[in-house]
Amino acid sequence: MTATVSDTVSRLNELLEAERAGVELLQAMIKTVPKGYFRNHLVKIEADEAFSCAVMERAVRAAGGEPSRGKNDFAAKVLALESLAERLDLLARGQMWVVKRLDAVAETVTDPEARKEIAEMRREHVDNVDWCNDQARELRAEQEE
Ligand SMILES: [Fe+2]
Repeated sequence: MTATVSDTVSRLNELLEAERAGVELLQAMIKTVPKGYFRNHLVKIEADEAFSCAVMERAVRAAGGEPSRGKNDFAAKVLALESLAERLDLLARGQMWVVKRLDAVAETVTDPEARKEIAEMRREHVDNVDWCNDQARELRAEQEE
């Protein structure tokens, strides 16, 4: 597959805008839950999202581009949902979207350090998808008791 530099940059910037929205979303969700393991894990995901922003900024620069300053509307979409289980479902879907997008762009990234960081970012996102899905399932099971 041949991709132009501007293709790669615009795809990485699209992901950067998604990761910024992820930080915004996690910060908002953290405020809605009590102290405990669950909140601690949201803080972990927020840190992953913030680190992913840095990874995407570095990858954009390594590809010869200028990092976007934008942010997409994912946080508002998730926060519009009423229940925590629904929010976790959509958060998981959003993280999975990122995994697929990373897979699509990874082969066009030539910088070795950026490639390594993208692989780590992908792995963290897969872990976070699993955690969100597990938590949503547990919340629904609790409600049925
Ligand atoms: Fe993310």
